[in-house]
Amino acid sequence: MRRVELGVFIPIANNGWIISKTAPQYMPTFKLNRQICELAEQIGFDFAFSMSKWRGFGGETNFWEYSLESLTLMAGLAAVTRRLKIYASVQPLLVAPAIAAKMAATIDDISAGRSGINIVTGSYPDESAQMGMLPPDYDSYRYDYAEEWITVIKRLWTEPSVSFHGKYFQLRDCKSDPKPLSKPHPQIVCAGISENGMRFTARHGTHSFLGGRNFDEVITLAQKMKAMARDAERRVKAYTVFTLIQGESDAHADELFDYYSSGADTAALQNVTAIAQGSSGQLVQDIAKKFVFFGCQPLTGGPEKIASILDRLIRDGELDGVMFCFPDFIQGLEAFQRGVMPLLDRRGLR
Ligand SMILES: Cc1cc2nc3c(=O)[nH]c(=O)nc-3n(C[C@H](O)[C@H](O)[C@H](O)COP(=O)(O)O)c2cc1C
Repeated sequence: MRRVELGVFIPIANNGWIISKTAPQYMPTFKLNRQICELAEQIGFDFAFSMSKWRGFGGETNFWEYSLESLTLMAGLAAVTRRLKIYASVQPLLVAPAIAAKMAATIDDISAGRSGINIVTGSYPDESAQMGMLPPDYDSYRYDYAEEWITVIKRLWTEPSVSFHGKYFQLRDCKSDPKPLSKPHPQIVCAGISENGMRFTARHGTHSFLGGRNFDEVITLAQKMKAMARDAERRVKAYTVFTLIQGESDAHADELFDYYSSGADTAALQNVTAIAQGSSGQLVQDIAKKFVFFGCQPLTGGPEKIASILDRLIRDGELDGVMFCFPDFIQGLEAFQRGVMPLLDRRGLR
């Protein structure tokens, strides 16, 4: 029986993942994220993950107008945790490979080999366009660009000197030492769900995060990801992500869900659906249109219902783990520990 790995999608941007005036409103400080990671580690979670975010969506809640930077935040969190794996997100378009290679090696040193990078090829063109860093037609070749970028990085992590003459990157006798502590290299995470994204993960990823509109879609994606990795003679772990609305009972969780939905920040939601375009934005649009949750489908219920859904995903869906965002991360982690973790233990999932 596979043991389920549990992760927390830490709130690197204000208000986490609920686009609502009735959800908790807060800033994404290091202090808060440190508290969340320390608690997650203490209660037995396995990893913390942060996204790369450069532009918000406005509305009455100023949704995601305030965001910390992922690599530097995770470097700080690596220093104050001991066991959690630490995944930082980085966009190849915005960070040259030789710089990203050394930053990731630095986080791997700080964390004593607990680190990984999530490669984001860009879901929101506005983010890079605002910096003058969006080349024409980038969406059509973003995974080819990432392919060269990660190839260069893997070589810098493992070879004494790298000369590379690619379509997008040229390096001459480029050195990057010390090498990361993690062997053969830090974990490589990707959350792509397009054909190109999943093919990229099958070739390079160690971990795949698969968003979905519903539980069946998550199961299908995880099975597809595992099959693609097997075809590439590799092993890729598969995870999904939920916004957890846990109540004392299923009815209580439904009340909480209705309460958050009643405060929908419609202007921010409209901006989300207008801006997130193309293949990468489709999932976000679909979820945002249906719920007030940003890109992470809600998992709503009392402890028994939550545990049984997780059980099904792990057993039927070949998933290796689940990552959560919460309305209030501290209260949410505490409630999960009290209510759901003992049930996962009883079901033999931990
Ligand atoms: C867990 C998770 C983390 C993600 N992190 C980011 C991120 O940091 N920044 C971002 O712009 N998109 C992020 N995304 C979007 C994905 O990188 C990806 O672009 C999206 O799932 C669409 O897949 P595609 O790139 O194959 O079209 C994330 C998605 C998931 C499920």
